Amino acid sequence: MNEVRKVVIPVAGWGTRSLPATKNIPKEMLPIYNKPVIQYVVEEAQRARIRDVIFVTNRDKSVIEDHFDYNLQLEGVLERAGKLDKLEEIRKVAEMVNIMSVRQKRQLGLGHAVLCAEELVQDAPFAVMVGDDLMFGGVPAIGQLIEVAMAEKVSVVGVVEVPWEKVNRYGIIDGEETSPGVYRVRGMVEKPSRENAPSRLAIVGRYVLTPNIFTYLKQVKPGHGGEIQLTDAMQSLSQHHGMMAVRMMGMRFDAGDWAEFLTANIYFALQDEELRYDLLALLKNFVQFT
Ligand code: UTP
Repeated sequence: MNEVRKVVIPVAGWGTRSLPATKNIPKEMLPIYNKPVIQYVVEEAQRARIRDVIFVTNRDKSVIEDHFDYNLQLEGVLERAGKLDKLEEIRKVAEMVNIMSVRQKRQLGLGHAVLCAEELVQDAPFAVMVGDDLMFGGVPAIGQLIEVAMAEKVSVVGVVEVPWEKVNRYGIIDGEETSPGVYRVRGMVEKPSRENAPSRLAIVGRYVLTPNIFTYLKQVKPGHGGEIQLTDAMQSLSQHHGMMAVRMMGMRFDAGDWAEFLTANIYFALQDEELRYDLLALLKNFVQFT
């Protein structure tokens, strides 16, 4: 299998769970401590040595591409003010990766968003990272998947263990563990009841896919809400070409869920030595009174 050089990051959804915050701001641009959500996702890709990022966007999301570009006016202001550490910080963001983008003109689901990137992906295996799913740990989550994809020469899906009472919210895999945390996928079930779930290994926003996925995405019939589900196409891909799953190490936050979004904010703010003491003092005070 060729090296994985490109990642597709779909960011064209409406973000309805996060309204009214996302009325005019993409949910991927909401900050987690001092960086927008999408920067954490792109940093993970960069750490896995991916250089080309394909954003699947809509008409209101160009601010996401701008974030990864130079802002010469702001750079001038910072330079004249002698704020050189800030200057370096914002320049670094512009230099992280190459950016390409394609419009998803109608929001027909995650599967459809990935299909929109077909022309830009061309004929090589590629990564998909969901633009509001944050993964943190020593080894970048997408890098864990790429390693297995290269070794096994098949598509790989990232999974995390969820509590049994939450299996009905996710696509769940049925798999045979071939080495610790690595599974050969036998099948997958979308949002099963607890009784029918083959495991509690849930598919969450990280994938490495072979270009065969596009053939199956074109065959998928729209499901709930007219959406083309990525899981439906992956089901066929796994049956015809094989698929592995990797239990990703590290923490995960769904930025579209307020409790997880706020927890992620506190988690990252606490990593900042300068802020930690003040934040803990304020939080302690506040928690005592609730
Ligand atoms: P979600 O279902 O979490 O995102 O899709 P959403 O639709 O924006 O959010 P809610 O549920 O209404 O709050 C997962 C990812 O897929 C992208 C979203 O931007 C998000 O990053 N997506 C979803 C698309 O790019 N296009 C779509 O048609 C749907």
